[in-house]
Amino acid sequence: MKYVIGNLKMNLLTPAERERYFETFIRELKGKNILDVSVVLCPPALHLEKFVEKIGSEKVSIGVQNIFWEDRGSFTGEISSLMVKQFGVEYAIVGHSERRDIFGESNATANLKIQAAIKSGLSVIYCVGETKNEKNKGNTFEIITKQLKEGLAEVPVSKINKVIIAYEPVWAVGSDEVPSSDEIMSCKILVKKTIGEMFGIADAEKVCVLYGGSVSSKTVGQICTEPGMDGVLIGRESLIPMEFLKIAEIINANNREL
Ligand code: PGA
Repeated sequence: MKYVIGNLKMNLLTPAERERYFETFIRELKGKNILDVSVVLCPPALHLEKFVEKIGSEKVSIGVQNIFWEDRGSFTGEISSLMVKQFGVEYAIVGHSERRDIFGESNATANLKIQAAIKSGLSVIYCVGETKNEKNKGNTFEIITKQLKEGLAEVPVSKINKVIIAYEPVWAVGSDEVPSSDEIMSCKILVKKTIGEMFGIADAEKVCVLYGGSVSSKTVGQICTEPGMDGVLIGRESLIPMEFLKIAEIINANNREL
């Protein structure tokens, strides 16, 4: 199965804007041939319940953009994976570069969140990737390996199939710059190899590896199809249902040909 995951970030500011999004999304969804892809939308936490109600269906699953690792209690401003699971959420993004960069999240906190999400029965979309500076220094592989080893430490082998890895070069997020297909493919191979060493080759096979960072219907061939990725994580274009579902259709068509 291929994934097309939308990260709506801190957008859809008014009830009216949200309604318009639902209307457009539902209209665009009609008649779309996307049966062979898993479509996931990750709205701001405030909108989760309405998203589950309005567009959470067999065709579209809903994910949360961030969670805390404790289940409940005195943690002002946080929401837990156990909580969102009760409201019909199925996925959690963990370790997004904006969380790492702006909110100081580390591989260690990502690890706590991944373990909590899995324990609550959520699937995890774990983001890894290098900054421009790390890339220029030739440290891409070292950074990704560390993010995987520390982020996935002590995840039970039986649960590694609940983890999806999103390779998102930080410099490609929100920038319109994208890596070459060869660069993306080599990172996919690295992810598979590292997970294989940690959890065994058979289980590494089950882990999907997505690409994220400036994905559009124009770039999806180069960054998803050519390097053989298992799907994409989309930021800006997920705010435009027509464009987002066009990407899903392209991946669906390609998936069927394989
Ligand atoms: P972008 O964001 O598609 O706007 O580059 C990707 C992401 O942040 O996941």
